[in-house]
Amino acid sequence: MTSYSSPAVPRSLAPERLRRGPNLVFCMVGLPARGKSYIGRKIVRYLNWLGHEAQVFNVGQYRRSKLGERKDHTFFDPDNDEAVKGRRAMAHLALDDMFGWLKKRGEVAVYDATNTTRARRAIIAERCAAEGVRLVFIETISDSPEIIEANIRATKLHSPDYAGMDPEEAARDFRMRIAHYRRAYEPVEAERLSWMKVVEDKQLVLNRVDGEVPSKVVRLLMALRHRKVRHFWLTRHGESLANVEGRIGGDPGLSSQGRAFAERLAEHFERVEPQPTQVWTSTLERTKITASYLHALPASVSRRDLDEIQAGACDGMTYEEIREKMPEEFAARHADKARYRYPRGESYLDVIARVEPVVLEIERGNDPLLIVGHQAALRTLYGYFRGERAEACPQLQLPLHWLVEMLPTPQGHDERRTYLGPEPLSAGRAGASSDFPVKT
Ligand code: SIN
Repeated sequence: MTSYSSPAVPRSLAPERLRRGPNLVFCMVGLPARGKSYIGRKIVRYLNWLGHEAQVFNVGQYRRSKLGERKDHTFFDPDNDEAVKGRRAMAHLALDDMFGWLKKRGEVAVYDATNTTRARRAIIAERCAAEGVRLVFIETISDSPEIIEANIRATKLHSPDYAGMDPEEAARDFRMRIAHYRRAYEPVEAERLSWMKVVEDKQLVLNRVDGEVPSKVVRLLMALRHRKVRHFWLTRHGESLANVEGRIGGDPGLSSQGRAFAERLAEHFERVEPQPTQVWTSTLERTKITASYLHALPASVSRRDLDEIQAGACDGMTYEEIREKMPEEFAARHADKARYRYPRGESYLDVIARVEPVVLEIERGNDPLLIVGHQAALRTLYGYFRGERAEACPQLQLPLHWLVEMLPTPQGHDERRTYLGPEPLSAGRAGASSDFPVKT
């Protein structure tokens, strides 16, 4: 491995914020148990991960905190005047907070409520027009009794509204709540408005949708239509020869410890159920060699979009060498690791943009999948599935020789970590990050 000093390369200025577009509201529309909150949260998580400033404003949460939990179905009856007033007040409270947030620091808000009447949507449209905020409606539609019932059982019965209640009684009450909303429901139609309709896993219908953020959301919705949460595993390659020397980048092979890890990984996958039916690596040797030990699994596919962050002029150097020879670069990286771009290399934000198609492919598919990757690229990918913002990704802990299993839940993923290192685990190494020995 060679190290070299770089000729001075001018550093481009980091933007003041990670991303900034015109303020935008995605207003959810649909009967209860049609996946509005799931989609709304996914949109916010995805945009925050891409570096936007996004937040959900959920009217149900305002109602629970201001008017109390455990409202039975009669509270949602459109003929219950008292309750209608209360619900309207909660809708306005959420709107006020949302516009306050958009003015101060927000960029994209998801207004999560049923919004099933034209009158309610007109109020939102007027407020958006007055505040100069763009508005896109996202209506989720399903008439499938199986999907609706599965939704009620997976999510609604765990809501604080039904805490401690007999599940059958709770499901019955929730179905009556839906019936109240159905009586007053007016689907989004107006041709002049901007809207998207998600019809189960069958259709995504768009009307007057344009702009960078709405286009990204369309891509996400395409990936989410199946609503299947994939079981997958993430691991870094076994320790490389560069890891041993503390050098970054390059295309080294594995150390003896790295090969011992690859063997243990292979043994692990001979035992576990379900087994991955797909294995992805980067195009770099250390991931491909690690995967080559996995004889029980299908042959791996190597993807360039999973390659490690490109260290450009710093490729092959240790952090100590960067600190000594390129102190300004070292300090700039320390100051803002997400935005910092290596001279002639990449930043974490660049890696997020590169890894995004991988994330959407994971969302879209259903086959159990193992990814053998690298620290920075996996940090970004893992960050998305853990709901982390772009800025947090460089700090996520994915040490060598650990396997992270991403277990599907109705809302996303839980994780289980297994240490498969050849050397016994000492307390100090539990969260250690051996690719980047200097904390930056
Ligand atoms: C709720 O209070 O739970 C929902 C209010 C709404 O979106 O209609």
